[in-house]
Amino acid sequence: PIIYVITPTYYRYVQKAELTRISQTLMLVPNAHWVVIEDSEERTKLVSNLISDSGLKTTHLVAKTPPFEKLKAKDPRWKRHRGVEQRNKALSWLRDNLQLGKDKGFVYFMDDDNAYNVKLFSEIMKIKKVGVWPVGLVGGFNVETPVLDPGTGKVNGYKSGWKPNRPFAIDMAGFAINLDLILENAKANFSYKMEKGFQESQFLSYFTTKENLEPLADNCTKVYVWHTRTEKPVVKSEVSGYEV
Ligand code: UGA
Ligand code: MN
Repeated sequence: PIIYVITPTYYRYVQKAELTRISQTLMLVPNAHWVVIEDSEERTKLVSNLISDSGLKTTHLVAKTPPFEKLKAKDPRWKRHRGVEQRNKALSWLRDNLQLGKDKGFVYFMDDDNAYNVKLFSEIMKIKKVGVWPVGLVGGFNVETPVLDPGTGKVNGYKSGWKPNRPFAIDMAGFAINLDLILENAKANFSYKMEKGFQESQFLSYFTTKENLEPLADNCTKVYVWHTRTEKPVVKSEVSGYEV
């Protein structure tokens, strides 16, 4: 089975550094297929070169966020949905290019700024339908995690710093889905109509229920992904001749 890793990305000073980290993590994952979707009109040289240098199996797409949804420089990031257009583009690519019953694998949304332990990908391989696990450094908590019922071992709630009563109080980095489900539910997409911060909840609702989530990472006791964010660098002067 192939792990289809979906990464939206957009141009800013740290883009190349972020994508270098992500691609070199994926080099340690033998069965990864990296789907990179640029938030731009056209594929850029920077991203094209980076993904071809990686030697990974890749698909390079573009999907520009419409101006009405694009964050302005001074907007706080929660003001707009991020990655919607790009993830939907990747989902259509999967549905147009893979065949239910023939192609087997998993789908994971791997943002370009998070930090990942390669053990996460071995966990993803255990998924039957939808797997979940803790995410470090998110929502004002050191870790957000599904909470398991000690009797049944099933998910019965969430520890989350932000709206723990969401249907699925899980960050984008905290779940992966069997490819069959993605191919079977052609209408399951992200949307701007969703309430801010509810993308994950709405998307997961297409596929499963809380009771049917599969807790991974040692029954949700281990942290294999961190919702890190890179500080915006202050660049006062550009040295010519370098692509950083
Ligand atoms: C949190 C979640 O971790 C995201 O997965 C979710 O999309 C987002 O909230 C949301 O609610 O929309 P956060 O760290 O605030 O994430 O989001 P970013 O990391 O800034 O963006 C998520 C992804 O979209 C990244 O891969 C980023 O490169 C991409 N992005 C962001 C674009 O393609 N275009 C943009 O204008 C902004
Ligand atoms: Mn992020």
